[in-house]
Amino acid sequence: MASADGVTAETSTPVAAEPTSVFLRACARLRVDRTPVWLLRQAGRYQPEYRALREKHSLLELVRTPELAAQVTLQPIESFGLDAAIVFSDILPPLVGMGLELDFARGEGPVIGNAISSPRDVDLLATPPAEESMAPTLEAIRIVRRELEPRDVPVIGFAGAPFTLASYAIEGGSSRDFMRTKAFMLSEPAAWKRLLGKLVTVQADYLIAQAKAGAKALQVFDSWAGRALGRADYLRYVAPANRELYGKLGAAGVPVVNFSLGVGTYLEQAAACGGDVVGIDWQLPLDEAWERIGAERPVQGNLDPAALLAPWPELRFRIDDVLERAGGRPGHVFNVGHGLVPQTPPDNVKRLVEHVRDRTSR
Ligand code: CP3
Repeated sequence: MASADGVTAETSTPVAAEPTSVFLRACARLRVDRTPVWLLRQAGRYQPEYRALREKHSLLELVRTPELAAQVTLQPIESFGLDAAIVFSDILPPLVGMGLELDFARGEGPVIGNAISSPRDVDLLATPPAEESMAPTLEAIRIVRRELEPRDVPVIGFAGAPFTLASYAIEGGSSRDFMRTKAFMLSEPAAWKRLLGKLVTVQADYLIAQAKAGAKALQVFDSWAGRALGRADYLRYVAPANRELYGKLGAAGVPVVNFSLGVGTYLEQAAACGGDVVGIDWQLPLDEAWERIGAERPVQGNLDPAALLAPWPELRFRIDDVLERAGGRPGHVFNVGHGLVPQTPPDNVKRLVEHVRDRTSR
């Protein structure tokens, strides 16, 4: 700030320019002229354009070819005019650089060929820099950013949280009860700590690299800690690693969304691990969740993705319910409370986006 005699006061600090996009403004709890909206898994099998590409390429081919990943990222933006793009990838590819063999088997979901079963396996895991192991995703971010910057639509980068990634690495794929993961955690606490430590190193580096490549916000997905663990185990075995991860992400210089699924019994503690914005899952009423984490924290959420399978009057009723619970307070990003499912009619996505816009324009 300039003082009266024209000399710049020494105490002045440069103030970062206010973002202009509605999404980034809401992440900073700034005034918006309408509520921003984007959707978890907004790119995917519910879209005919995506299914057409998948007939020619595997999921990992799409992820590892920057031009194709960028194309898929942009599809829902072109079709529905969402307020943010999320780079097309998955949470699991960073595990490949660590030495795990990843494949997506048709109809079965992810499969890891050499799952972790001993402390020695943990010690053999590599921690390569993201520029080496995740270069195609970083390049996809650069392409998407060039495309979307003129439209002021930001790109979101993302990664999995340590527990969620550890669960895939130990189970060798998806799991119902996470028993192998919990048995390892309880029997080998020192190796568990080393495993989560390595995951924090790799994910923090990857997320910061995504911000450097042009991601204007980052989201951390902790999909399974809340399903697998009670509060005491979460606090003891997971929260320290999450706190370390969010702490490191301060260096990214962009807002971070902490999306922890199924943590209703310890939402306050999960939110306290860090992140600027808290993603609320579909199981909690938005107003109650917001009160529990504090009105000064921006929130993202939380329509049940199943609502998109309902006829329009029911879907509209449920969208309005989320908006009413948000109450027009600053700092709300409209989203689903978990990913869109493949059966979602694209027309309902279109109507949802238009309705959120119409209802919240001020
Ligand atoms: O548009 C977007 O949201 C970006 C893309 C994205 C994908 N996966 C693509 C994908 C994102 C953000 C993810 C995150 C992800 N992946 C999570 C965290 C979010 C959550 O849903 O809780 C998790 C747990 C995974 C792991 C994963 N990936 C599973 C269990 C599966 C198989 C089940 C399924 O939905 O098919 C995947 C595959 C996957 N990742 C698909 C997509 C579009 C389907 C792949 C296909 O085309 O066959």
